[in-house]
Amino acid sequence: MQRAVKLTGDWRASVGSKQSHELQVSQATALGENDAEGNPLQPKYQTPEHLRTIPHLRARLPTNALVLRLRSQLIAALTNFFNQEDFVQTHTPIITSSDCEGAGEVFTVSSNAAKVSEQKSRPEDEAQVEHFFRTPKYLTVSAQLHLEALAQAVSKVWTLSPTFRAELSDTSRHLSEFYMLEAEICFVDDLSEVMDLVENMLRSAVATLQASPIWVELLKMKEAMPREDVEDDRFVGVEALQQRWGGMVAKDWPRISYADAILILGDAYSKEPARFAFEPFYADGLQAEHERYLATTVGQGKPVFVTDYPTMQKPFYMAPSVPAADGKGPTDTVACFDLLVPDLCELVGGSLREHRSQELIAAMQLKGVAGHNLGWYQDLRKYGSVPHGGFGLGFDRLLCYLTGVGNVRDVVAFPRWHRKCDC
Ligand code: 4AD
Ligand code: MG
Repeated sequence: MQRAVKLTGDWRASVGSKQSHELQVSQATALGENDAEGNPLQPKYQTPEHLRTIPHLRARLPTNALVLRLRSQLIAALTNFFNQEDFVQTHTPIITSSDCEGAGEVFTVSSNAAKVSEQKSRPEDEAQVEHFFRTPKYLTVSAQLHLEALAQAVSKVWTLSPTFRAELSDTSRHLSEFYMLEAEICFVDDLSEVMDLVENMLRSAVATLQASPIWVELLKMKEAMPREDVEDDRFVGVEALQQRWGGMVAKDWPRISYADAILILGDAYSKEPARFAFEPFYADGLQAEHERYLATTVGQGKPVFVTDYPTMQKPFYMAPSVPAADGKGPTDTVACFDLLVPDLCELVGGSLREHRSQELIAAMQLKGVAGHNLGWYQDLRKYGSVPHGGFGLGFDRLLCYLTGVGNVRDVVAFPRWHRKCDC
């Protein structure tokens, strides 16, 4: 098992033909200690579930070390893309006063300091005892609202920051703490510009990695995977991985409306109802199985944009869709998209933002978020506001997709999910 040694000796021309030089060791010293027998990381196949119980050690496995390096190089490639496009990288707050998505999946921030001060002295203000910041605060679920504020200053902004969701979803795609890459651009009133940005960004970053040695390393690692992994139904082998990367660097990803997506799904359901557990209905939204079907059949290897979802299914900040030129099609939809890929389903969510003051207030009232500490967000519309839009990409999901790792819990070094946060 893992043990580092320091070797001292002579570096000499080799008499053998297999290498030009060889090290003739005169002294070997072991560095540090390793209880090889007791080590939970053993040189044999160990299930991902077991390895998740030892996150502090599993990064040392060659496959996990490769994922760590790929993650780092992906960030570098994305940073480079945004630099070239004149975006300003920003740092948005982790502690926030509102639930951006309005889904009620926030973690509330509390402080022991407030309790200690309660014991020491009688506070003048009761609220101070309960809340460090006077009123409840939360770990951010998305940097979007703060990014919107900064975009109005420097036009094009992005951030890659931790986000937190108290979701109970026990799936291979959901974490309680994950990294989201978000961008916001001003002077945009056409959703396709935001989709172009997502497409160009991903194509550029993936092409950069594909031209670097890490891509070859990844393929070699897949070829050398243990039999137990390869026999798993969810295993993503060399061919599937090449398809995924090929789709990402290909041009012209399909873009279909939500209404058309429902028609495609309805057609598939009528031909083969057993394919789905849930019958697709316009008002019900897309289930993961529907997203999977669309990503596979419409995408044909490329990621798929689904646009213009019903207003009722989306958060308050989205702008209404631009009506079709012929006046046909649903009217109560918002100018938004989800980017779908096979297996992982939703990789990116984005939209044009409602930049008009009165319309924003009406949407907030409709969604029941008016008065939820969002006065500052309304101010952004009152004091100089231009049409703008942006997106959020699930960075860990992207890494999962590109590495062909079956579970997002295995591309994050120290994953957190419901009832799991051990070290
Ligand atoms: O679709 P979401 O909820 O969008 C937003 O939060 C927007 N405010 C972003 C924006 O426009 N700036 O989340 C964005 C992406 C999803 O598409 C998904 O890939 C990922 O974040 N995501 C998760 N990834 C891992 N675990 C979870 N629990 C996730 N929830 C969302
Ligand atoms: Mg979404």
